[in-house]
Amino acid sequence: MTCACASEELILGIETSCDETATAVVKDGRQVLSSIIASQEQIHSLFGGIVPEIASRKHTELLMSVTQKALDQAQVSFDNLSGIAVTNGPGLIGSLLVGVSAAKAYHAATGLPLVGVNHLQAHVAANFAEVCEKPLREADLPAVCLIVSGGHSDLVTIAHATDYEVIGLTRDDAAGEAFDKAARVLQLGYPGGPAMAKAAEAGNPEAFALPRPRISDSLDFSFSGLKTALIRQVQELQGEDEAAPDEQTVADLAASFQAAVVDTLTRNTMQAIEQSGVKHLAIAGGVAANRLLRERLSEECAGVGVELHCPPPELCTDNAVMVAVAGHYLLMTREPDNLDLDVFSAMPRAC
Ligand code: KG4
Ligand code: ZN
Repeated sequence: MTCACASEELILGIETSCDETATAVVKDGRQVLSSIIASQEQIHSLFGGIVPEIASRKHTELLMSVTQKALDQAQVSFDNLSGIAVTNGPGLIGSLLVGVSAAKAYHAATGLPLVGVNHLQAHVAANFAEVCEKPLREADLPAVCLIVSGGHSDLVTIAHATDYEVIGLTRDDAAGEAFDKAARVLQLGYPGGPAMAKAAEAGNPEAFALPRPRISDSLDFSFSGLKTALIRQVQELQGEDEAAPDEQTVADLAASFQAAVVDTLTRNTMQAIEQSGVKHLAIAGGVAANRLLRERLSEECAGVGVELHCPPPELCTDNAVMVAVAGHYLLMTREPDNLDLDVFSAMPRAC
């Protein structure tokens, strides 16, 4: 972290779309001056998943102090900032409203330009941050990006930092959602993705033959059939007495499930690269923190001469650095938002 001086472009990012209250200050769209994440994981894990009402209340309690911490860590005040970027969807409406209301209040009080950022666009933008091992640069574009989060498994082509075209979409359960549901079936707790990855370390990925779902030639994803196959497998193992599978069997199930998700994501992603002829692949979203996925994509990309860009795991899961980076590019390309800025819960679905 470095100290800021007056001529720099400094964006405050605010992220409250789900269960992380996060703020960050980013310089010139690349350099991370601060990043604060207050996770609500512990509270929600008591309920086995996110309770939206609790999430929005916690954001309300935490956001002001988390914002002050980000300013302190960056050694700046509101006077030094150039703009405020806030996630305004998709996400939990009550949670989004807290971040957007706070950002609008800061904007009204300081006169700083305000910009609403799409959460998925923000995930992609994490790849432009300098803290990435190989940050994505404008010169690397066009690139393909695999966005894999709790609600989305999408493939996009990035033409410019703010210009994406969706080429593959979530048809039903997203990759992260599938991990979370599988973890619940295996009683591994919440959040499911990291718990499944950990359990899988001791398991055999070939122990159970689970499907690698494919929708004809499309790049779209569908994971609900895989989830059902896992549930059936568990029921079969449990038999009539419904005894829970032993620890090794759970590890084997987790490893087999993880392998099926990673194979499916890798297959469609490499197909997208082949079809679009790009030389750069970026990954984004919480599931992009998965080690096996990173390893597989790295191997496959090396095999076809494509450069893989991976944000560090803490910039794959929800954070505000990515919001500030996306805000930087949006403020360069369009008029800022105003107090009419609204929130939206879901992406419009393609027919
Ligand atoms: O992007 P994210 O933090 O929040 C959303 O925008 O949804 O993604 C959260 C998702 C959860 O489903 C979580 O289980 C999954 O990302 N996830 C992982 C890993 N870390 C987080 N899935 C697999 N392996 C991981 N290491
Ligand atoms: Zn996210």
